[in-house]
Amino acid sequence: MKRLAVLTSGGDAPGMNAAIRAVVRTATQQGIEVVGVRRGFSGLHRGELAVLGPRDVANTIQRGGTILLTARSHTWRSPEGRAKGAQVLRDWNVDGLIVIGGDGSFHGGHYLQEEHGVPVIGVPGTIDNDLYGTDHTIGYFTAVETALDAVDKLRDTGASHERIFVIEVMGRHAGHIALDVAVAGGAEEVFIPEDAKSVEGVVEIVKASVAKGKASSIIIVAEGYPGGAQGVADAIQNGTGLETRVSILGHIQRGGAPVSSDRVLASRLGEAAVYALMDGEKGVMVGRGGGGIVYTPLHETWEKRKDVNRDLYRCAKTLSI
Ligand code: F6P
Repeated sequence: MKRLAVLTSGGDAPGMNAAIRAVVRTATQQGIEVVGVRRGFSGLHRGELAVLGPRDVANTIQRGGTILLTARSHTWRSPEGRAKGAQVLRDWNVDGLIVIGGDGSFHGGHYLQEEHGVPVIGVPGTIDNDLYGTDHTIGYFTAVETALDAVDKLRDTGASHERIFVIEVMGRHAGHIALDVAVAGGAEEVFIPEDAKSVEGVVEIVKASVAKGKASSIIIVAEGYPGGAQGVADAIQNGTGLETRVSILGHIQRGGAPVSSDRVLASRLGEAAVYALMDGEKGVMVGRGGGGIVYTPLHETWEKRKDVNRDLYRCAKTLSI
């Protein structure tokens, strides 16, 4: 292996830069040249590639976002788009591609390899933590911290006004962020897409909280729960008449300096991705499991489902008396 390419794709996640840095520096140490692809698969098709050396990734480990830029590209969905991307990699004499992203990005990598024989290694980078084959994804820990910081602040104003706050966190299909934030933020109730429990129950929960002497409550809703935070807030407002406010945290959760857990995870996985390519691995995601590095076929990362930790439901409920 003489040259590899690296790209970030899909939603950005804090720690992606730490992963790029780890790829560049590990590869350089092993005598492999790295080219960075800008703007994910969109940039690949357009030939937006440039050689990256160790100094190009200096002073990036602490920076949020991705220095390579990213995009939600659908070009990989067409055979022509994939063929064009593969041709660009051949033109650049690239022997392997490292894709840092989520399941959409891994689809792109999977088909590029299946149809054009490009060895592809996936590195899990998404705040949603929704990839099978790794205990955690890069960006998840930071997103939870950012959301939690907001919840703490909303609690201050909620308590002062004796209001109910319904707070929506990210997670299009997954409730990992919501459950962690609910436990760590002392929420009364949490709604996630994996569990389509009826919104009606929340009215009784809030009424019971008031009866116990709680003047304000925090309810956490994952973005993917049907009706979102607004639906839950409407049910509370209509069912209790209590003053209720909605706060949708949104993309703020994707920004900011990565916390240490994300930097360490990204550094380990970026390093592991290079070694995987050197060992002849292809079509796998490098993940963390059982305290070490594990490989999972790319297609399994989206075909199999990583369940949320349902114990956190019980924990949040037990502690919210
Ligand atoms: O990257 C994951 C994610 O942050 C989801 O939680 C969210 O639903 C989605 O991305 C938002 O995507 P976009 O930035 O394209 O609106």
